[in-house]
Amino acid sequence: MNPYLPQRPRRNRKSAAVRGLVRETQLTPDHLIYPLFVLDGVNKREPIASMPGLARMSEDHVLREVEEAMALGVRAFVLFPAVEESLKDKVATYGVSPDNFYLRIARAIKSRFPEAWLMSDVALDPYSSDGHDGVVQEGQIINDLTLPILADMSLVQAEAGFDAIGPSDMMDGRVEMIREALDDAGYTDTSIVSYTAKYASAFYGPFRDALESAPKHGDKKTYQMDPANRTEALREAELDMAEGADMLMVKPALCYLDVILALKQSCDRPIAAYNVSGEYAMLKAAAAQGWIDYDRAMPEMLLSIHRAGADVILTYFAKEYAAHWRQLNGR
Ligand code: PBG
Repeated sequence: MNPYLPQRPRRNRKSAAVRGLVRETQLTPDHLIYPLFVLDGVNKREPIASMPGLARMSEDHVLREVEEAMALGVRAFVLFPAVEESLKDKVATYGVSPDNFYLRIARAIKSRFPEAWLMSDVALDPYSSDGHDGVVQEGQIINDLTLPILADMSLVQAEAGFDAIGPSDMMDGRVEMIREALDDAGYTDTSIVSYTAKYASAFYGPFRDALESAPKHGDKKTYQMDPANRTEALREAELDMAEGADMLMVKPALCYLDVILALKQSCDRPIAAYNVSGEYAMLKAAAAQGWIDYDRAMPEMLLSIHRAGADVILTYFAKEYAAHWRQLNGR
């Protein structure tokens, strides 16, 4: 004799068809931004040991990578420069020099693929001899000396054709400073995607390997957020909205799904999440050992970030996810 069970949630899971009917979240490649590491020179492709499958690429290889990603349906990209140590100084001079290779590559991408959406990274660290996101004086990161440099960096990037400026530095007041500088110079159509809640995380390790951008001394805890805090992320979000950010980002993603949800529920801007280098490395490493089913775990990871409330996901899996999605949809 069966017990009387009027509630049987399993009825909605009975077949692939009914599961399809009631599926609440779908992640299409439309929502992905693919980060690319770029370097100067010709015909260079330097694999990144801690990020299997990814490489630092010179312009020619980057253009090919963009073309492949676009063919798979990924149309948004963010660029990070790997800068030679000899070009770095305390005030990131190379980052504001209008003829640097980073800007040249951005121009090349936008002229070859005008329909691609291109986002920049604004912070001192790739160009800084201190490896910090701001100007360092006597061991301190000086907020207000950093702001004008960030604004200048944003201007040369807007001039190069970036669709969006991505301040990742976590200095106070930078979104407003950048918005003003862009508007004064006539770049009213250039967006700002703010790294709103960027945590002082151990999960950036492989990225710092890729760019050789780790801090030479100290850590980033006086400007990046404490992983213990969520309410503080709402304060950062309020400020960024008031200062004119077009999208708000949470970074990293996986350990911060609650922060993504909190921002989604209280902000009227699209929320982005950065599925960072360490999250990529963990999954790739487990897959290489045969300890995890990569083909299922990778989409599950991205879906969970989307389900938590991220409209936009920056992810190194972008191309692989897009290929998976096409296969799933029989294209
Ligand atoms: C630096 C920057 C970092 C990342 C993006 N921009 C590293 C850091 O703050 O030290 C990390 C991205 C990743 O780990 O994938 N401004």
